[in-house]
Amino acid sequence: MVAGNWKMNKSPTEAKLFAGLLASKIGKETVMDIVVFPPAIDIPFVVDVLKDTNIGVGVQNVHPKEKGAFTGETSLLMVKDLSVEYVLVGHSERRHIFGESDEFINEKVKAVLSAGLRPVLCVGETLEEREKGLTKNVLERQIRLGLFGLEKEDVVNTVIAYEPVWAIGTGVVATPEQAEEAMAFIRSLLGELYGMETAENVRILYGGSIKPENFDALIRLKNVDGGLVGGASLKESFIELVEIAK
Ligand code: G3H
Repeated sequence: MVAGNWKMNKSPTEAKLFAGLLASKIGKETVMDIVVFPPAIDIPFVVDVLKDTNIGVGVQNVHPKEKGAFTGETSLLMVKDLSVEYVLVGHSERRHIFGESDEFINEKVKAVLSAGLRPVLCVGETLEEREKGLTKNVLERQIRLGLFGLEKEDVVNTVIAYEPVWAIGTGVVATPEQAEEAMAFIRSLLGELYGMETAENVRILYGGSIKPENFDALIRLKNVDGGLVGGASLKESFIELVEIAK
């Protein structure tokens, strides 16, 4: 799976143009899942441009409640109405800038699954946590609490994205050894919690400063099932990343 998180970039006009480029270059791809996560306001336009392609559309954030007095938020009923398939949950920017807790993230994961969509649960340690030797503790806490209360069949429909916070938008990518160590740990934790068969069927993505120059070494790792790309998903490099992942 190669996923592009556009974050707060691209107006509807820019999004339509870029989605058109993706449709023409990689829209017929069948060997992997390709998903883009545009800003919510762009989604109707992007869905329309990509409707006859194999490129899926996800949303970067939702509120777990169905509707009500939550100014500025987007509900799952709204995004479902637009044929959105995936929802990012627990992205480090939501955790660290907007103060989302593991409990709130768990509420979102459950709401996404109940709505019949697939959550992409993002986890990852800060530089300080890594330097203190706490990486595995942080990953374990975020996964245990993020997936709390889920049945095995829900876990299989959940994608995990390992995104070390120190690698996001910094140009400092995890080495293949660092990525594999963390992601093998995530897989074994999933095995411990839900059984190895379930763990083998969960897709685990790496994210953090992915570029065409470093993606090949990451995508070949045993426990890496794809990438969640930020900056490099905003331009033609995303097409190159899809080619590399083939
Ligand atoms: O969701 C994507 C990640 O935050 C990675 O962003 O590729 O710009 O480092 P980046």
